[in-house]
Amino acid sequence: MHRLTNRQILLGITGGIAAYKSAEITRLLKKAGADVRVVMTPAATEFITPLTLQALSGHPVHLELLDPEAEAGMGHIELAKWADHILIAPASADFIARVAAGMGNDLLTTLCLATEAPISLAPAMNQAMWRDAHTQANVEALKSAGYTIWGPDAGEQACGDTGPGRMLEPTDLAARLAAEFEYLALSGKTVFITAGPTREPLDPVRFISNHSSGKMGYALAQAAMDAGAKVKLISGPVNLTPPSRVTCIQVETAEEMLAASLEQIEECDLFIGAAAVADYRPVAIAEHKIKKGNEEIMELRLVKNPDIIATVAKHSHRPFTVGFAAETRDLLHYARDKLVRKQLDMVIANDVSVAGIGFNSNENQVTLVTPEDATSLPQTSKRMLAKQLIEQIALHLNKQDSL
Ligand code: PMT
Repeated sequence: MHRLTNRQILLGITGGIAAYKSAEITRLLKKAGADVRVVMTPAATEFITPLTLQALSGHPVHLELLDPEAEAGMGHIELAKWADHILIAPASADFIARVAAGMGNDLLTTLCLATEAPISLAPAMNQAMWRDAHTQANVEALKSAGYTIWGPDAGEQACGDTGPGRMLEPTDLAARLAAEFEYLALSGKTVFITAGPTREPLDPVRFISNHSSGKMGYALAQAAMDAGAKVKLISGPVNLTPPSRVTCIQVETAEEMLAASLEQIEECDLFIGAAAVADYRPVAIAEHKIKKGNEEIMELRLVKNPDIIATVAKHSHRPFTVGFAAETRDLLHYARDKLVRKQLDMVIANDVSVAGIGFNSNENQVTLVTPEDATSLPQTSKRMLAKQLIEQIALHLNKQDSL
């Protein structure tokens, strides 16, 4: 089921007594980490309310082909493009006939025509309707067109008949759907990543900060997401768009970054501290703009900020914890010191004195330091490096999990 993390599943519900089971399908898919959007035919709403599906999926249910409100948000073509997989459960005889005929006379049939995503149908109907030659011909036509047909099961039916036509159970459908996706290095893992600088305000117009652009942290978030993880990106102020399918929490100060990092930390399997957190903040924030005086030298009083990654590494629900070490000299010495002092599992040593890598650049070169060894990775784009780092981190994390 871990394969469903981050997957965008469009669940189509058509009219039939089995429609009540769609609530359980939605719950199972959500629990497995999928993002679920529900589309119902008018007949389906006679069997289960859109409100139930909205509450379970966390999104408004799509009902009409020509709904100006929906078209302004996610219209039918966007919805067709959005889906990684379309599951139609239950699929009635009428729906199967319409889609086999290539009709687009409601939202769900239109989506089937417009999508490039794989489509699976879970038929549910009376045994005689299932055995009917028209239905069988329609099912064969859909199979030839590339649709997958899951079920139906045979057994006692709601109408009192016995025979084939029962929709497969929600657990079976969810498992079949999960099997459609590849198992990736971080499938089923929850990853928190801090990125960018923090800003420590001095007065309403000034702050202390640093040159971090967030590029490294955002690239790591994308790579972790691509590796199948559910990602929470805790970002200081940067000019970057968060990767899609990643939950991004925007913060300003180190204290806000700490609070966002600790929120739901018990769900976190892997924490990566790529942020350049200000070590100190002003003792007090002036209520009004600090005015220029006559003195040539102005002194600022600063107080130490909390160490976010060290706090995470000491937490009772400690995730696998990876820090960065941005250094301008004695790189490996300071990286090892941070590994031990902050009780980290791994440190990514980053020489920020070299031009073209480190802060604000598009490329980086790092050394991966573990308690056992140090591996230098060649200079490359932050995007490529993030992919390599996530592969290495996943190897260590999965090794630890298997112990
Ligand atoms: O953002 P970019 O422009 O792409 O640049 C990337 C980067 C250089 C910022 C990044 O690769 C990097 O090195 N990040 C860590 C920067 C840093 O603050 O390093 P540090 O050696 O001061 O901190 C060591 C570790 O402790 C880091 O994981 C840091 O996130 C963490 N830390 C530091 C202080 C603090 N109060 N809380 C922390 O969690």
